[in-house]
Amino acid sequence: MGVAVLLLRALLLLAAAVAASVPAEPNRLMQIVVLVRHGDRSAMRSLPIDPHSELLDQVGPAQLLEQGVRQLFRLGVWLRRRYDNQSLLPRRFNTSTMEVRSTDTDRTLMSAQALLAGLFPGQCAGDGTSMPVCYPVPVHSKPTQTDQLLKMSSPCAAYQHRWRQFRARPNGPFKSAVREFRWLAELARNRTGWPGPDDCPIKQLWRVEDSVSSWQRMGLAMPSWVNGTVREGLAELKRRKFLWKYEEPQLHSARMGLLVARLLGGMRLRLEGKTAKVYSAHDSTVAAFLHAFQVFNGLRPPMAACIIAELYASGEFRLVYKNSTEQPAVHQLSIPFCPPPCFLPQLESEMRRRGVWAETAQAMCGGGGDLAEDSQQDEPLGAVYNFILVIVLSVSWLPLLY
Ligand SMILES: *[C@@H]1O[C@H](CO)[C@@H](O)[C@H](O)[C@H]1NC(C)=O
Ligand SMILES: *[C@@H]1O[C@H](CO)[C@@H](O)[C@H](O)[C@H]1NC(C)=O
Ligand SMILES: *[C@@H]1O[C@H](CO)[C@@H](O)[C@H](O)[C@H]1NC(C)=O
Ligand SMILES: *[C@@H]1O[C@H](CO)[C@@H](O)[C@H](O)[C@H]1NC(C)=O
Ligand SMILES: *[C@@H]1O[C@H](CO)[C@@H](O)[C@H](O)[C@H]1NC(C)=O
Repeated sequence: MGVAVLLLRALLLLAAAVAASVPAEPNRLMQIVVLVRHGDRSAMRSLPIDPHSELLDQVGPAQLLEQGVRQLFRLGVWLRRRYDNQSLLPRRFNTSTMEVRSTDTDRTLMSAQALLAGLFPGQCAGDGTSMPVCYPVPVHSKPTQTDQLLKMSSPCAAYQHRWRQFRARPNGPFKSAVREFRWLAELARNRTGWPGPDDCPIKQLWRVEDSVSSWQRMGLAMPSWVNGTVREGLAELKRRKFLWKYEEPQLHSARMGLLVARLLGGMRLRLEGKTAKVYSAHDSTVAAFLHAFQVFNGLRPPMAACIIAELYASGEFRLVYKNSTEQPAVHQLSIPFCPPPCFLPQLESEMRRRGVWAETAQAMCGGGGDLAEDSQQDEPLGAVYNFILVIVLSVSWLPLLY
């Protein structure tokens, strides 16, 4: 390409940037992207010795509970209230301005529906107290095997390799926890009857925690061995899981590169005309996302935990964390490497520099599923660039026509 053309392009980009940098209302909210964890659910599986396994057979494993539906509904109502005066969200779901995607599990698909019922009251008939009946909205999904965007357990060999290395570190946090919680592993193995000798007691304890906390959520009786100390130990181990699995840059880059690239790249392109996106996913997705922005608070994302990324007309990017559907509090998150006011171009270049971008995810996880789609799309500024070039070419040809 000739130098003249390059110069022309640069000049035009500059002109476009200047034009774009003086928006009429810099504080106007342009887009929101919502990432949410599903609500209360039943246990993932029964324990070998499980006082409530019959009930779990009835409810089904890993199913959204009724109170989980209500949590997401309340969150949707809250989102509507927060953004109602921004003319961002129409009263009814509109497919040309909005998009919803969920992982391919019953609980996240149902959570998305419950959230949307709260968000679009115009879609629903009801008296506002009981569950409304709603006109359906489309929710997109991909099978776990190809869901590189939202499902943290989708295939990624390099991630698995690093995670195994992390666990194997002789005096690393994982091995220390094995020693620290040996008493709990021995107790739980005896009372829940999982097969020994244990290859990985911590993983087994995570499973026990899953059952115990689901009994608690469902208001079921605790077996006598589950006293306060045992419950605290289980919760502490689960808390650490979300620290360990995504804290290291290589680990969260592999799993979050694509979502971050789609989020920021999409915002740069004004979400292709969309004003709102909703992603319905899991505690692991929320935790990895918070790690990628270095704003993880050390706690397991609770049920219905919700992150909102907001883009303002000035180009300012803000992150909000709502981690309780009972408490009104929301937390404004300050990104350490892009402190407020954080503008989109700076954030994007920081993320690229840190390797939290689609290329890293692609290199680490292989090019399957969602990653394959993105390799065709992700040319930095490409779309905008060519668009400007076309306009300019047509403008510069005009005089010749006369
Ligand atoms: C919408 O309401 C919020 C809170 O009441 C306020 O901070 C914000 O400025 C309002 N936005 C518009 C566009 O009126
Ligand atoms: C959906 O949004 C588009 C773009 O704002 C608008 O043109 C269209 O009329 C809307 N459709 C409905 C059914 O409201
Ligand atoms: C648990 O320990 C008790 C007492 O040592 C023993 O009788 C029982 O068989 C053990 N149960 C399991 C499942 O290992
Ligand atoms: C709970 O049980 C464990 C193991 O049996 C025991 O060591 C601990 O002291 C108990 N804690 C309480 C508060 O009873
Ligand atoms: C929610 O997040 C805030 C800020 O990080 C934290 O202080 C609070 O303990 C969290 N609450 C829950 C229930 O996770």
